[in-house]
Amino acid sequence: APAQNVSPNREKPTLPDAQTVTAVKHWTDSLFSFRVTRPASLRFRSGEFVMIGLPGDNGKPILRAYSIASPNWDEELEFYSIKVPDGPLTSKLQHIKEGDQIILRPKPVGTLVLDALLPGKRLWFLATGTGLAPFASLMRDPETYERYEQVIMMHTCRTADELNYGRELVENLREDPLLAEMYGADFHERLQYYPTTTREDSPLMGRITDNMTTGKVFADLGLPGINAEEDRAMICGSLAFNVDVKAVLEGFGLREGANSEPKEFVVEKAFVGDGV
Ligand code: FAD
Ligand code: A2P
Repeated sequence: APAQNVSPNREKPTLPDAQTVTAVKHWTDSLFSFRVTRPASLRFRSGEFVMIGLPGDNGKPILRAYSIASPNWDEELEFYSIKVPDGPLTSKLQHIKEGDQIILRPKPVGTLVLDALLPGKRLWFLATGTGLAPFASLMRDPETYERYEQVIMMHTCRTADELNYGRELVENLREDPLLAEMYGADFHERLQYYPTTTREDSPLMGRITDNMTTGKVFADLGLPGINAEEDRAMICGSLAFNVDVKAVLEGFGLREGANSEPKEFVVEKAFVGDGV
């Protein structure tokens, strides 16, 4: 056969570090989740983030940090994403479909890992918006329940529909027959959920900081409050949120830890934003 028939162009062009999209779900006009294939060599600790992206118009990849929302035992990777109308990455990423390819740099890092906290009784996950993503991973990791008696997921958004990805995930976990088999019929007691809105009426209202300082969340859940002996926390939201929650936790006597020096709480930005 003539040589030109053996054209390399017949093969689908593959990006460096390409992974294939296996599912996409749109939750609101500004939020979606998607799943991609997982590189065989990728190991990560639940709660960590990686750089993902798409090729830019000039061929240079547009890469951004994304928390892995799936647990480390999952054979695929899940992400939960904002759609920023003029965002260099998400203005394009929001249009991905099953079968498309994205770039994924397989170098997971991050501070929201169980190893960065001392042992304790209760573990609080405190998130706004897409800051829920690392906790979507940690809530699905059995290691979390091996280490802590109780997990409390507090998630706050402006409107009720923005809570839906997290709500569906937590409700499914609380009713998961496998978890009930592993941890007992009262497993749902071990995963508490406290979703609130701030700019639309819903059953539970208010900022996480306010619901902690007034004691409302403790009263509603029948918990004694937060103390440095029993409680551990992970924070993920905007910079302003992180700063304010950190101050509240420090007010309860908790100290910020790190991978190298585990203490009572850890913090990570959900995005690099407009600041305080
Ligand atoms: P950018 O130019 O990156 O952002 C434009 C502006 O949009 C920012 O200045 C900010 O004001 C706002 N913005 C960006 N991201 C968000 C967000 N998530 N929520 C609210 N406002 C935002 N984003 C996710 O959607 N899911 C994640 O799991 C996630 N994990 C992250 C983990 C880390 C450690 C960091 C630092 C960021 C993370 N981000 C996450 C943000 C992400 O890296 C990008 O900023 C986001 O995808 C938007 O990219 P962009 O290029 O479209 O716009
Ligand atoms: P609020 O509506 O009272 O500002 P944003 O979209 O601005 O990042 O906010 C997401 C959610 O986080 C909103 O419900 C918002 O409440 C809440 N939030 C924003 N900043 C803070 C903060 N500094 N402390 C506590 N909650 C905050």
